Amino acid sequence: MASPILVTGGTGTLGWLVVPLLKNAGCDVRVLSRRGQEREDGIEFVTGDLASGEGVGAAVNGTEIIVHLAGSTKGDEDKARHLIRATSPAGVRHLVYISVVGADRIPLVSGIDRAMFGYFGSKLAAEQAVADSGLPWTTLRASQFHDLLLMTARQMAKLPVIPVPAGFRFQPVDAGEVAARLVELALGTPAGLVPDMAGPRVYGMAELLAGTFGPVVSTG
Ligand SMILES: NC(=O)c1ccc[n+]([C@@H]2O[C@H](COP(=O)([O-])OP(=O)(O)OC[C@H]3O[C@@H](n4cnc5c(N)ncnc54)[C@H](OP(=O)(O)O)[C@@H]3O)[C@@H](O)[C@H]2O)c1
Repeated sequence: MASPILVTGGTGTLGWLVVPLLKNAGCDVRVLSRRGQEREDGIEFVTGDLASGEGVGAAVNGTEIIVHLAGSTKGDEDKARHLIRATSPAGVRHLVYISVVGADRIPLVSGIDRAMFGYFGSKLAAEQAVADSGLPWTTLRASQFHDLLLMTARQMAKLPVIPVPAGFRFQPVDAGEVAARLVELALGTPAGLVPDMAGPRVYGMAELLAGTFGPVVSTG
């Protein structure tokens, strides 16, 4: 019997799109999640927490391909390290990681930089942990998904006045397209850092908000 592909973050926005594509490709899929769940529709769930490392050993046991998508606003470097520590170089033949466009380009100099953009620093550190893991690896950097930008714009709309920083640019991408690319990569040969993935259009912040809520007056 073929070994299952482990998808960390398989319950998230991106992961939940990746899982059915892997199944359609004929793979057995195991999902690591902090919330225990019954096996469903051919998907095996293993309970574990990448922040502490608890349960991760059981999740990686017997898997040859790992698609590491679990992430949050903080601590993705630690999550990657706990995952890698639980693997055996003899067992895993491909570790695929999702990072974010700009991970290597956002300067993190001041405390304010770190407070605002620390996410990018932790994604870059996680990339480095993957590259230094000794496992064959592939990393894809994607831009923000449409859903995330829409949610951010909705949150901003709750403010009485919306600050619109000049110079901010977004090139959102469809999460389904990123999922399809990740499956292609996971079932292919380890390729290291592959070309970034972003959507076809670049938006300014004001344009993005205007598209969602109507005209925005920008002072930028
Ligand atoms: N959203 C974007 O615009 C975007 C853009 C580029 C790259 N990315 C990257 O893509 C990945 C997925 O993003 P997403 O938007 O799909 O995320 P999401 O919807 O917020 O889902 C996060 C996933 O990570 C898992 N997770 C979080 N902390 C965990 C922990 N301590 N232990 C185990 N699992 C944990 C969650 O699983 P449970 O809650 O079930 O435990 C969930 O499946 C992330 O690595 C993110 O950095 C996202």
